[in-house]
Amino acid sequence: MSPAARRMIARLKIHGEIDSTNRALMREAATGAPSGTLCLAECQSAGRGRLGRAWISPFGSNLYLSMLWRYSEPPAALGGFSLVAGAVVADVLRRLGAEGLALKWPNDLLWDRRKLGGMLLEAAGEAQGPSLLVVGIGINVRMTPDHGRAIDQPWVDLAEVLGEPVVGRNTLAALIIDALIDAFERFGREGLVPFLSLWDGFDAFRGEQARILLADREIRGRVLGIASDGALRLDTADGERRFHAGEVSLRREDEGEVRGEVGDEQ
Ligand code: BTN
Repeated sequence: MSPAARRMIARLKIHGEIDSTNRALMREAATGAPSGTLCLAECQSAGRGRLGRAWISPFGSNLYLSMLWRYSEPPAALGGFSLVAGAVVADVLRRLGAEGLALKWPNDLLWDRRKLGGMLLEAAGEAQGPSLLVVGIGINVRMTPDHGRAIDQPWVDLAEVLGEPVVGRNTLAALIIDALIDAFERFGREGLVPFLSLWDGFDAFRGEQARILLADREIRGRVLGIASDGALRLDTADGERRFHAGEVSLRREDEGEVRGEVGDEQ
C-alpha cells in the first residue's frame, strides 16, 4: 500500500468468520467508527449481494472486503460512488493482467459474461448531511465448483481469468484498498465526472439492446451509455430515458427473467 493510503486507514479488522463485512461496518459506523475503517473476512455466514440476494462466501478462497468513508454531503449525493467502486476494482484487476473485463451497470464485474465480482454500497446519514458510505467488494478468487453450484448465475474466478498462480489475496486487498482510498478522496472533491471515462472503457452494454426491469414492468431500448450523474441512458421508443442505480436491474434483450425491487426513473 502507498504510505499515503496507509495513513488514511483508521482501523483494519480481519475476521475468520462474520455475518457480512458490510453489516459489521454498518454496526461499527453506528457507534462512531471513523473514515478509513476496514473489515475483511475469510468467510461470511450471511454475505449479501444487490437486490437482497445472497453472496456465496466460502472460507479462505475469495475476497470479502468492506470499507467505511464519511462525507459532509447528504447520503443522496453518494449514489455515484457505486460506479466509481466498479471502475476502480476493474482497473486494479486490469493492472494485474486481467484482460477482457467488463462492467454491467451499475457495478457488476464480468468476464466472458460471467460474474467475477460485485459491489454492495450502503449509505446512511442525515438528509442534509453528514453521511457515511460502506462499500463492500466481493471478488471470486478461487471458487470451488461445489460452492459455485450455489451461485444462481454464470460465474468465473480470478484463477481462471489470470491463470495460476493467481494473485495472493493480501496483495489484491492492498491494491484495492489503495485505489479505493484515492477514489473516496477524489470523489469527495470532484464527484463522479473524473471517473466516467474509466467506467466507459469497461462498459459491457453500450450500444446493445437491453431491458430495464422495474418493480412492475420492464422498459426496452438501446443502451446509450452513462450520464454525468451516473444514470443509465436508454434510447427507447419514447425517446431517451434515464435510470438511477437504486434498485433496478439491467438485462440483455436475450437474457432470462430476474425481477428488480423498486424502480427509480426520470
Ligand atoms: C452484488 O454484485 O450483488 C454485490 C456483491 C457484494 C458482495 C460483497 S462481499 C463483501 C461485502 N459484504 C457483503 O455482505 N457483501 C459485500
